[in-house]
Amino acid sequence: MMSLGRLEGFSYSKGELHCEQVPLKKIAKEVGTPTYVYSKATLSNRVQRLQKVWRGAKFEAQVYFAVKACSNIHILRLLGQEGCGADIVSGGELFRSSIAEIDPRKIVFSGVGKSEKEIVEALKARIHMFNVESLEELLSIDRLSFESGSKAQVSLRVNPNVDAKTHPHISTGLKKNKFGLSKDELQEIYRTLPRLKSAQVCGLSCHIGSQILALQPFSKAWKELVETAKKAPFDVKFLDLGGGLGVPYLGEKAIELEDYAELIAKTFKGSPYEIGIEPGRALVGPSAMLLTKLLNVKRRGARSFYIVDAAMNDLIRPALYGATHPAFSVEQARSRALVTTDLVGPVCETADTFQTNLKLPALKSGSLLAFGNAGAYGMTMASQYNSRPRVAEVLVDGSSYKIIRRRETYANLIEHELV
Ligand code: LLP
Repeated sequence: MMSLGRLEGFSYSKGELHCEQVPLKKIAKEVGTPTYVYSKATLSNRVQRLQKVWRGAKFEAQVYFAVKACSNIHILRLLGQEGCGADIVSGGELFRSSIAEIDPRKIVFSGVGKSEKEIVEALKARIHMFNVESLEELLSIDRLSFESGSKAQVSLRVNPNVDAKTHPHISTGLKKNKFGLSKDELQEIYRTLPRLKSAQVCGLSCHIGSQILALQPFSKAWKELVETAKKAPFDVKFLDLGGGLGVPYLGEKAIELEDYAELIAKTFKGSPYEIGIEPGRALVGPSAMLLTKLLNVKRRGARSFYIVDAAMNDLIRPALYGATHPAFSVEQARSRALVTTDLVGPVCETADTFQTNLKLPALKSGSLLAFGNAGAYGMTMASQYNSRPRVAEVLVDGSSYKIIRRRETYANLIEHELV
């Protein structure tokens, strides 16, 4: 069993795990399991920690929250109220952001492939910026903005060829990755600039990967970004530094939000650029737990399997990236005795394993467990695999909570299949 460490917003009180002042047992009883439980205070606090550093340094930067990390409209609205804009990668995320009343002047549209439909929707919404990743994409945006008579500001996404030293699935800043523009590709775009009829190329962006646990890769990439800006044959007004700041899943030493914010202020204070960042995980990851119930304990010789009611369809990160989300018993064990067990879900593949050889207290079926650090890329990557309705989401605020996404029903499973 891991100690709670610094999972803000969650703590044991009278032997029971709480989110803020609400016992997780109460949520399990009233909403059922599995359920994602978010702490409102933690969400707000994580944004404010960045802003506080910048205020202190008399520096300004815009946070564009990476919607893909957690796209529930209630969470987006809350982050919007804290001053965040949105980094979107699809028309769907644009739709969610507008429902959540995110100011379109604070929306940047990233992604290596945008459809014409999505570009037109974003033009209509008058978003702040398109982060462009190819000449062909730039020409489409130029044509569509000319045809619709709407303004399109464009940042070119630089591929700085920097190793983010993270899982290969989520590393994006190397030349071999599909993302961004290499030096040659940039030159080709520069030659095309005079031919543009409508799009206004006025910024540069980069994003080198996700779950980055050191500051060095960031400084390297940003240095490259500034070098590129200095040499660019157009007036660079905006620099978008991307996202990628990691969180400690296993108690690793991660970068504090303050240190990250400080590095940004230090690097860019007094520079002629307007600065934006696109964090996802670092803002929402630690703000939620996935609450689950132990269905069965299966003993096989010296081994045992704890089978919980959450599965890889609800939280796919362990199966997809070998990630570990620390498991906590909702009721603190009275005895210190631990058993070694594999923590698994009910889905019919071995990949549906949250953790192996884990030391947990001896628990009985019906006991509650919670996976920590589940706020980012948890619910947004959930599916209905094995025809499991997607789980509920709950937002806790002090001593009360509200359901911000209903648990899906069996009817939801077939609603788009024409019967
Ligand atoms: N900006 C761009 C252009 C991105 O592609 C991403 C994430 C972000 C910002 C936000 O990155 P963050 O601050 O959250 O690291 N599903 C994976 C993570 C994929 C990240 C994809 N891009 C996971 O569960 O670890």
